[in-house]
Amino acid sequence: MTTALDSPANGGAPPPLPEPDAPFIRVEDRNGASHTLEAVEGWRLMEIIRDHGLGMENTCGGALACAECHVILDAAAAKRVPPPREDELEKLDELPMLYENSRLSCQIIWSDEMSGLSLKLAQET
Ligand code: FES
Repeated sequence: MTTALDSPANGGAPPPLPEPDAPFIRVEDRNGASHTLEAVEGWRLMEIIRDHGLGMENTCGGALACAECHVILDAAAAKRVPPPREDELEKLDELPMLYENSRLSCQIIWSDEMSGLSLKLAQET
């Protein structure tokens, strides 16, 4: 049986992710699966990811105590969000593994100008 994924038209590649009209974030979960999440103005990035059930269920609520919300922004995304404050940098320094664009997503307040931001959930928290 032939499926759309087997179609020579797309070379067997998975179909592209939908581009919703609403502001969105692209998130790669800890299993490598990509998700497009609708974002809500004024919410913390962590809250948006948590409420979509992508593995941030046991967070400290943004108190900089757990680092469960550790994400890695892609290079373009890192330029589109405000830089980390000193207290976020101090918490990041406690993590076993840091990446060039590691951030704690509870410290990033979503604004619709960030639509299209791409990130992945860090394995290490
Ligand atoms: S939610 Fe705990 S440090 Fe971000």
